Amino acid sequence: MSLLDGFQSILKQDEPLAPLTWLKVGGRAKCLAEPQNAQELQALVTACGEQGIALRVLGGGSNLLVGDADFDGCVIRLNAPAFSSIEVSGTTVTAGGGALLSNVVSESVRAGLAGLELLAGIPGTIGGAIHGNAGTRQADIGNYVRGVSVLTATGERRELTEDALSFGYRESSVDELVVLGCQLELKTDDPDVITDRMRKVWIMKKATQPLSSQSAGCIFKNPRGLSAGDLIEQAGLKGTRIGGAEISDRHANFIVTSDEATCSDVLKLIENAQSAVSEQFGVDLETEIEIW
Ligand code: EPU
Repeated sequence: MSLLDGFQSILKQDEPLAPLTWLKVGGRAKCLAEPQNAQELQALVTACGEQGIALRVLGGGSNLLVGDADFDGCVIRLNAPAFSSIEVSGTTVTAGGGALLSNVVSESVRAGLAGLELLAGIPGTIGGAIHGNAGTRQADIGNYVRGVSVLTATGERRELTEDALSFGYRESSVDELVVLGCQLELKTDDPDVITDRMRKVWIMKKATQPLSSQSAGCIFKNPRGLSAGDLIEQAGLKGTRIGGAEISDRHANFIVTSDEATCSDVLKLIENAQSAVSEQFGVDLETEIEIW
């Protein structure tokens, strides 16, 4: 790659991606860029387009499995403060796409606004949450999104208003290169009631999910009316280990990794779960995580 004159101060070469993800597996990126503001980001995206450099955008790295092969392109990371602002005004919360969802949740709860407390404990950025419509059994982020600003792969900024947005189970229409920011509409409620609901969500999560291990959350979407974790457990796969990766014995829809794991170990477990559940129950499991 002929490198991107004028951007050297925000670029790192041959950078390992594994430490930037929760599963901690995968290869390197030819270049990792950390733009400091939206103008710099826009200029970088345009320059990559002109030079034919492949681009990927990294959110919080919590719902992502990075391939073992090195990526011959540029990974953009939105970790600068300019992308993670959070402002509350009345019942509207405006956040930068790189803000951690957990910070948006806590700022909203602190302001006495209800809705997002049901998303407590979901890692990652709000941009990633909107792209994949992150949620729980009770609610998802799409319930609260009123507007999204994005940057397209050709470097154009667009404002997507409610009529241009659609959210489904762990998917959304927001598929542009970067989520720059969003507006969420919440409701006021008694702060004690909101906090109590948030505590209950946390207690359920802690009781059922392997939160202290390296994982990417749930690997598969739940098939309609069924539970992927239940099906994988019934297929007898809890605790199955390949290399440094293991189907969690706490929650079978989680794969947990240790430091020697590779992406290939995780992919083999994914395939094992898919073929066992297909053979035994005739159900096709679809992955929920992003795979690079
Ligand atoms: N179950 C099993 N064995 C297991 C795991 C679950 O039998 O190994 C059973 C449970 O006993 C329960 C049912 O399956 O009866 C559902 O389990 P759970 O309540 O843990 O919820 P889930 O459907 O597995 C979903 C979301 C989670 C979210 C929880 C709580 C998906 C794919 N998963 O899990 O989201 O935290 O509800 O709201 O929709 C994620 O998206 O990454 C994620 C973790």
